[in-house]
Amino acid sequence: MLMKTLKIKGGRPLIGRVQIGGAKNSAVAVIPATVLAESGCEIENLPEIRDVDVYAEILRDLGAVVTKDGRCLSVDPSRLSPIPLPDNKVKKLRASYYLIGALLGRFGEVSIGLPGGCDLGPRPIDQHIKGFRALGATVRQSGGILHVHAPELTGARIFLDVVSVGATINIMLAAVRARGVTVIENAAKEPEIVDVATFLNTMGAQIKGAGTDVIRIRGVSRLRGCRHAIIPDRIEAGTYLIAAAATRGEVSVEQVIPRHLEPLTAKLREMGVRVREDDETVWVQGGSRYRAVDVKTAPYPGFPTDLQQPLTALLTQAEGVSVVTENIYSARFKQVPELARMGARIRVAGTTAIVEGSTPLYGTSVTATDLRAGASLVIAGLAAEGETEIAGVGYIDRGYERLEEKLRSLGAEIWRS
Ligand code: EPU
Repeated sequence: MLMKTLKIKGGRPLIGRVQIGGAKNSAVAVIPATVLAESGCEIENLPEIRDVDVYAEILRDLGAVVTKDGRCLSVDPSRLSPIPLPDNKVKKLRASYYLIGALLGRFGEVSIGLPGGCDLGPRPIDQHIKGFRALGATVRQSGGILHVHAPELTGARIFLDVVSVGATINIMLAAVRARGVTVIENAAKEPEIVDVATFLNTMGAQIKGAGTDVIRIRGVSRLRGCRHAIIPDRIEAGTYLIAAAATRGEVSVEQVIPRHLEPLTAKLREMGVRVREDDETVWVQGGSRYRAVDVKTAPYPGFPTDLQQPLTALLTQAEGVSVVTENIYSARFKQVPELARMGARIRVAGTTAIVEGSTPLYGTSVTATDLRAGASLVIAGLAAEGETEIAGVGYIDRGYERLEEKLRSLGAEIWRS
């Protein structure tokens, strides 16, 4: 079947309110974490995106009873077994690697295909493996399959060489069932890590320090099912805020945690965008002129790499030279050649993109090569004069729920064909 394209007739300011869904990067960790329980879990406020559906399918393949009702997933993992998972479903998403920590914690063994996900340059999982080994597991790779085995997991002190969201969560998943205490040092501090730790603690785990760079986990022998609501998606929220500024509109993003958006809202203010925050809402009002800014991506609470690509689309509308430094991934500027086709003046040198603005953008045919590159092109299309056609919609569907519906409610002309 020919994949559809997204079409946007640009030039209309986005105006109104938009409700933000649950965080993708939290959901894709909490869903596999249910495997650790010996009774049923209810997960609420899940985003309605493809990655969630794929994960639900993988749990069914493992023998869990999974039912989905809108944003709610109920998982009964009591009859689940650690059958090998070499197939292509695990290759459809990056976060399938969380099944290693979760199945290791529950059963002491797992065989799984190496994870897939967006191509952002090399994405090694050596820190995850180092953590599992420190807990006493043997890790072996044959073909594209990873075999991890540990008759007994024992708590350990693990210092991460790089700050990694995935490794921090994955080690936490295994360590909650290890004998004794595990300490993860140089841990990542993203809100999604805190969310997963909260979920595990509600299941009966003993995790302290999530959200700081030292996490302490005292292993327990059993975890029970529980109910948990996923935190709001700060990256989805940020994407709408950037789109509002790029179209010189006025938008409130609702059901968010404003503090999680501070790295972005601080940058928007620096550019001259008006921003106001309230308990669960962030409001932006675009203006006619923006100042160029420098941006460096960094682990939380630094500027998120996931918003770097969307932000470059907005920076084409700022006056002067903006310098964007991508410190997390080596190949995360794939939006740049596509933005250039729309009229942007951007040069990439290594891990830096130099954006010269402001330049008018014009609609044309472009291709999304990964999820956030897709978001960047949608923002550019909304701000551009004329019609933009975006191929590669499958990437965008991995991470943005009801994108056209939400944008149309803000006044955008966007459709699939
Ligand atoms: N790294 C290693 N070794 C490891 C793990 C990571 O060298 O064992 C490196 C990576 O190559 C990268 C850096 O450490 O340079 C950070 O990677 P991290 O492990 O934090 O990334 P991740 O857990 O694979 C998650 C999100 C990404 C987001 C990054 C950074 C999920 C499923 N994915 O990836 O989200 O960009 O953290 O915040 O949580 C997205 O949503 O578009 C996305 C790609």
